[in-house]
Amino acid sequence: MILLTGITGTCGRAILTVLGERQIPVRALVRDLDKVTDLSMPGLEIVQGDLEDESSIESALQGVDRAFLVMANSEQQLANEKRFIDVAKRREVSHLVKLSASGADVKSSALLKRVHGEAEEYLARSGMNYTHIRPNFFMQNILHCAASIVAEDRFYLPLGEGRTGIIDVADVADVVVTVLTESGHKGQTYYITGPEILSFYDLAEQMSEVLGRKITYVDLPAQEFRSQLLNWGSSDWYVNAVMALFELMAQDTAASVTDTCRELCGRAPRSFRSFVQQHRDIFGERERVKTVAG
Ligand SMILES: NC(=O)c1ccc[n+]([C@@H]2O[C@H](COP(=O)([O-])OP(=O)(O)OC[C@H]3O[C@@H](n4cnc5c(N)ncnc54)[C@H](OP(=O)(O)O)[C@@H]3O)[C@@H](O)[C@H]2O)c1
Repeated sequence: MILLTGITGTCGRAILTVLGERQIPVRALVRDLDKVTDLSMPGLEIVQGDLEDESSIESALQGVDRAFLVMANSEQQLANEKRFIDVAKRREVSHLVKLSASGADVKSSALLKRVHGEAEEYLARSGMNYTHIRPNFFMQNILHCAASIVAEDRFYLPLGEGRTGIIDVADVADVVVTVLTESGHKGQTYYITGPEILSFYDLAEQMSEVLGRKITYVDLPAQEFRSQLLNWGSSDWYVNAVMALFELMAQDTAASVTDTCRELCGRAPRSFRSFVQQHRDIFGERERVKTVAG
């Protein structure tokens, strides 16, 4: 049996979809059952649990031989991941696949990279069989900018000229499912990216081409972005963590691509153009933008 965490989130949901398409039975640990009332899939077993609650992890891992661990970025992330690893080891889970991040490093200047670096080291030292999945920046992050793209044809991020090997979470999911269901991946660390290195100006240009109207990327001063995050109610810990991460990205540290997706899945990773095409209703058609603007 495979156990998934995080199925109400971006990666977990995408992984669940791939497992469902392949009709592979899976158990999912879910914090809030109300969030999955609309979810039904043959072979899916949902159990209530919380990574803050050791006994619920114990029950969820009963009879499980492979598990996927993803944790939201929060002050509790490292403690929760360590707790899950401890219980998985006790429960003799034979393979734990951890969603990490590109640049995970205990010595990174960015807290979130250090958290992943420490969790990776903790898992490796546990003696369990593991695989670390280190994706680059998710294309799905751009969906958070949809409101201003629809209203103003602009999006605002404090990322300067920084470039990324931006990746579609659907590819993260395909890689994770390959690792969970095929042999030969134990002890590996996979850095996965999309097919090309793109700046946020390049992303705007590709969006313009696909959507048929001019989309502009605005390099927002870091302080303004910080104020926005605080106004949205994010905690100081989260705001500081994201700002440090974005500062690193603005220095062009995420500008690389790998062949890992092709090597593991036998095909090229999805392009940003195809991602925009797939989500063009969210980014707004020209007609809809006219309507929004009155
Ligand atoms: N965004 C990027 O570009 C990027 C790139 C590389 C790596 N990453 C890494 O990806 C991870 C985030 O993945 P994501 O975007 O899929 O996350 P997400 O959409 O924020 O989803 C997080 C999931 O974790 C669950 N969760 C949170 N706290 C929990 C707890 N105490 N017990 C059980 N479940 C809990 C959430 O459940 P609820 O619905 O109950 O909250 C949700 O299902 C982070 O570790 C981040 O560093 C992100």
